[in-house]
Amino acid sequence: MATERETSAGETSTIDQALPWWQRGVIYQIWVRSFYDTDGNGQGDLPGVIAKLDYLRWLGADVIWLSPVFPSPMIESGYDISDYTGVHELFGTLDDMDNLLAEAHARGLKIILDFVPSHTSDSHPWFIESRSSRDNPKRGWYLWADPREDGSPPTNWVGCFGGSAWTYDKETGQYYEHAFLPQQPDLNWRNPEVRDAVLAAMRFWLDRGVDGFRMDAIWHIIKDDQLRDNPPNPDYTPDLPPDNLLIATFTRDQPEVMDVIATMRDTVDAYDDRILSGELYLDLERMRAYYGTSERPLLHMPFNLQLSVVEWSADIVGPYVDAYMAMIPEWGWPNWAISTHDSRRIADRAGQSQARVAAMLLLTLRGTPTIYYGDEIGMPGAEVPRDQITDPRELLYPYLGLGRDPARTPMQWDDQPGGGFSQGEPWLPLADDYQAHNVAQQSDDPCSTLTLYRRLIELRRSTPALVAGGYRTVHSDERALVFERFHGGERFFVALNFAAEPYTLSVDGAASIVLSTHLDRNGDRVEGSYELRGGEGLILRL
Ligand code: GLC
Repeated sequence: MATERETSAGETSTIDQALPWWQRGVIYQIWVRSFYDTDGNGQGDLPGVIAKLDYLRWLGADVIWLSPVFPSPMIESGYDISDYTGVHELFGTLDDMDNLLAEAHARGLKIILDFVPSHTSDSHPWFIESRSSRDNPKRGWYLWADPREDGSPPTNWVGCFGGSAWTYDKETGQYYEHAFLPQQPDLNWRNPEVRDAVLAAMRFWLDRGVDGFRMDAIWHIIKDDQLRDNPPNPDYTPDLPPDNLLIATFTRDQPEVMDVIATMRDTVDAYDDRILSGELYLDLERMRAYYGTSERPLLHMPFNLQLSVVEWSADIVGPYVDAYMAMIPEWGWPNWAISTHDSRRIADRAGQSQARVAAMLLLTLRGTPTIYYGDEIGMPGAEVPRDQITDPRELLYPYLGLGRDPARTPMQWDDQPGGGFSQGEPWLPLADDYQAHNVAQQSDDPCSTLTLYRRLIELRRSTPALVAGGYRTVHSDERALVFERFHGGERFFVALNFAAEPYTLSVDGAASIVLSTHLDRNGDRVEGSYELRGGEGLILRL
């Protein structure tokens, strides 16, 4: 049960130990290529993650989610895997991964891999074989189909990066299907050999000690076997990403996806204490389905990405939090993220002051928080010159403004050239402000965003109500969100002012301020009503 915790970071956690690690912990997402470069080639690597493990402990993270580190031609940032059981030479070696696992575990940190089961790279040996002839034994490992009579693709399906989801292979006279780029052919998960091969690859990592997986694009993993056309989307407008042209009735979230996840869950459950999470962008009712049932659980955590993509305003965030909490099955566990590698950073979407309010929300809601690297210093997205862009979405649709490179730039460690990230030329530019905006400078500043993150995590760790406790929305309007967390006899209010103007909070009886996003006023007494400054968040003990 809960006991007191020493205040300095890195001490043994004391929150309710009855919760499993993935419920009580804080996840930190690392874009490995941009985290820390140890060999001076301008690219982050696994030894770089090892070198920063003590920083992550100091920050208060418990779980690291690593972006894909497998061999890959990197057409799609490693989401185009050419070998499921290796490490890309850019990032290091298998030995480096083993070392990382050992060093992380020695510090009580868990490691989750971003795994991409729905498609491979077109340079994966499985696909090279599959495309070599129609009667190759691996032909059925991917989705091949004949052209329509007029030679056009078998269906009208559109890829997530636009264009047809089918590419014609002249040599064998058939099309293959790909939900993303032509260089990312989709595996055929109806084929038992594919299931066996990918589950074996999962076991390869589980045997090495990996603590779980974030299953990329999991809702895409099965497509309609009758190859029916998707219906047109009546709400499509050209300013939307191109895959919005059609409604993905036959290409995403198919009933058999659940069977695939069940086999993955069984694979993970054959090991002690590992987890399966997955990426999906679905409405809440459908997201619930991915938890499974209490008898047949599926994903431990269907990743809840909504707060990483919505407009940052109280009248959107408040109702979403309510709806999401109401959706979670009684035995299910919520989770939250405010930025990821696929969205604009919170500091860009909301501004520096609201990024602090967002941090307070992230770390006080009921559910596992995921911090995207750099958000703990309010890192902004950088300008990426056209000739340095790597994201296919931006290369193909520059006018949509959906490029993801700005949110994937090197971590700003200090004010040295290369931002302390690399002795060499960083693979993507750093944000202009890195000299004034970095970990070193914020570590020493008692009012910095980094200090706020540390204080929030420390408080969370020592306060069972903020982790295991119940959740209740107290008040939500177009300017503010106020909610309560409670456990045993302890009650806390979290009051978040999303507006630039002051906001008056009413409190029944007396309370004391435990933490302000401005990192002052701590300990102040509140009675009756209290004025939050513009863009301030408060945690109050009732
Ligand atoms: C997932 C990843 C995204 C990638 C896509 C295709 O959505 O999060 O970054 O572009 O899969 O692999």
